[in-house]
Amino acid sequence: MRKSLLFSMITMLAAGIPAVAGAEVSRGAILASTCFSCHGTDGKSPGDMPSIYGVPAESLVKTLQDFKSGMRPATVMDRHAKGYSDDEIHEIADYLSKIK
Ligand code: HEC
Repeated sequence: MRKSLLFSMITMLAAGIPAVAGAEVSRGAILASTCFSCHGTDGKSPGDMPSIYGVPAESLVKTLQDFKSGMRPATVMDRHAKGYSDDEIHEIADYLSKIK
């Protein structure tokens, strides 16, 4: 159930990403686009929300895994992080870390 919901969200978001001829959109890019509604486009927050771009991938992975395990207190990120597998967290972190 959860998986299919996530999948349809991804499909919807992927459909919103303009198809650039010949350009591959990575899975990390598609997954990370779910973060931008709260953290700002490309993770560049315009407001109170923390920015999440350009952070070293290992540090993002650690933060997300701590949210997932409940080690790091959160209001929404704990629930959000639980929706991703460890592989997906690595792909998201890798993508976000490369945004300048
Ligand atoms: C519903 C809004 C929302 C979405 C979607 C969301 N976040 Fe968050 N994020 C938050 C909030 C709020 C916090 C502050 C911690 C808390 O209260 O949960 C946070 C904190 C974080 C932090 C810690 C930043 C810091 O400097 O303390 C990271 C990293 C992060 N989010 C990454 C992500 C990633 C990656 C995604 C997408 C997979 C994502 N977030 C999606 C709302 C969101």
